[in-house]
Amino acid sequence: MQRIAKIIRVAAMTAAAVLAASSVSSVASAQDAKATYEQSQVDAGFKVFKGSDCAGCHGWAGNGQKIGENPDGPSLRSIDMDDAVLKETILCGRPGTNMPSHDPKAYTDDRCYGMDAAAAEGMTPHKGKPMTSDQADDLVAYIQTELVGKSDKPTLEECQKYYGKKPVCNAYK
Ligand code: HEC
Repeated sequence: MQRIAKIIRVAAMTAAAVLAASSVSSVASAQDAKATYEQSQVDAGFKVFKGSDCAGCHGWAGNGQKIGENPDGPSLRSIDMDDAVLKETILCGRPGTNMPSHDPKAYTDDRCYGMDAAAAEGMTPHKGKPMTSDQADDLVAYIQTELVGKSDKPTLEECQKYYGKKPVCNAYK
């Protein structure tokens, strides 16, 4: 019972965060914001994506085609998230789901959705590879620029960018 109450509370808080973030960005659309990322930051974010096991659950192309025996992660190509919400999702994970947190200090204080360890009890996300706030910013830049809005069917070029010119990419020819 208590657990259910907590989950409802998290859902409400997440919705509030999404609303707050979307009202800020209502003037400039996410599309406009994309133009402001430096290519060097996007490239740095690609390295963070590759180094953080996102591909296991979300697919190397971020299209929701998981690799091997991992939990199913949704496509990151069809998300419509404000940068701040996206960053918090990455650093804090999603309580009560298989989306891990990447901030090593997540849930040690109230930085994640205002929840400390006691509030998150029973639904604390698993810990993913540790990531700094700057790395999370880079990753956001990569996701918003190179994944969001792209087709869930990856191209040969995208495959070779991830894997190099390997036979595994022949499937996308
Ligand atoms: C162990 C599997 C797993 C790993 C690893 C993982 N995720 Fe997730 N991710 C999920 C699941 C499952 C969800 C759906 C959570 C839910 O039900 O709300 C999710 C949700 C998300 C969302 C929100 C999508 C939406 O539509 O609301 C984003 C963004 C995201 N993940 C990004 C990442 C990034 C970036 C990485 C790597 C740093 C990563 N994830 C690593 C499993 C994973």
